[in-house]
Amino acid sequence: PLSAMEPEYAIREELGSLHGIPLFKSFIEGWPQVKAFQARPDDLLISTYPKSGTTWLSEIMDMIYHDGNVEKCRRDAIYNRVPFLEMKVSKGLSGVEQLENTPSPRLVKTHLPVQLLPTSFWEKDCKIIYVARNPKDVAISYYYFHQMAKIHPDPGTKAEFLENFMAGKVAYGSWYDHVRGWWEKKQEKKILYLFYEDMKKDARREVQKILQFLGKELAEETVERILHHTSFQEMKKNPAANYETMLPTMMDHSLSPFLRKGISGDWKNHFTVAQNERFDQHYQEHMAGSDLHFQMEV
Ligand code: PPS
Repeated sequence: PLSAMEPEYAIREELGSLHGIPLFKSFIEGWPQVKAFQARPDDLLISTYPKSGTTWLSEIMDMIYHDGNVEKCRRDAIYNRVPFLEMKVSKGLSGVEQLENTPSPRLVKTHLPVQLLPTSFWEKDCKIIYVARNPKDVAISYYYFHQMAKIHPDPGTKAEFLENFMAGKVAYGSWYDHVRGWWEKKQEKKILYLFYEDMKKDARREVQKILQFLGKELAEETVERILHHTSFQEMKKNPAANYETMLPTMMDHSLSPFLRKGISGDWKNHFTVAQNERFDQHYQEHMAGSDLHFQMEV
């Protein structure tokens, strides 16, 4: 067992660079194994920029895979039920090792930008679901996550963090490149591209989209159970979904809980008028020429 004095990874270390993308140094050390990862044809990949609804979609997918059986979905923590592909810390299993031990059909989590996805996912034609969330809420959620999850560098002030976020100087790099890269890939590959804001507005409709994508049918009451179990309130109190089983040296929920607010538009409680104007201008510049659009609130 780990002693409290020995964190699983270097705390608040500065980021390294993986093919130009800022990333945790321990993840970069594990990159050769990630690059060579052997996907299986029935793997389903959940891909997101951080803080965009990964855990929410993961819980929905595990519930769908278990026909709405709540007890089965409490069998383990979400980070073990849906292993994090590129995760590597000095102790414990890496994401790749966890996945090798996972029976098919596997659910796989990644935050990798599209150009870094291991090629076997494309070769095996795996199903992929991407979730995107508006960048203002992502930035605020990521700021609080930096405070509680000690793998990240110190975020500094909110103003400093916003600058770094806009400049892509945070883990996984530019939000713009990430959402646009995966959006454009949709033209050649079968990717279900979802939005956090749509899930907030009408989760039932989004679950139906997922079922259609999977070619799966579920009884109305099963869908009902999935929606209830994956609501923010239910997930927040579910130890298998709320990350409270993580070592306190890795995540300090007293600073900010992993399931923090779970709403769209919380950025309004945090951005100053000047920050918002600057962000809007930056957004216009970086989304120019794209047919990808975001709802900044619902
Ligand atoms: S991570 O660390 O990148 O995997 O984080 P991720 O799961 O992508 O994002 C965390 C944010 O998603 C919110 N969340 C939810 N919102 C609504 N409904 C449900 N069920 C739900 N589950 C997680 C979570 O609260 C984080 O957003 P913020 O804005 O910080 O609350």
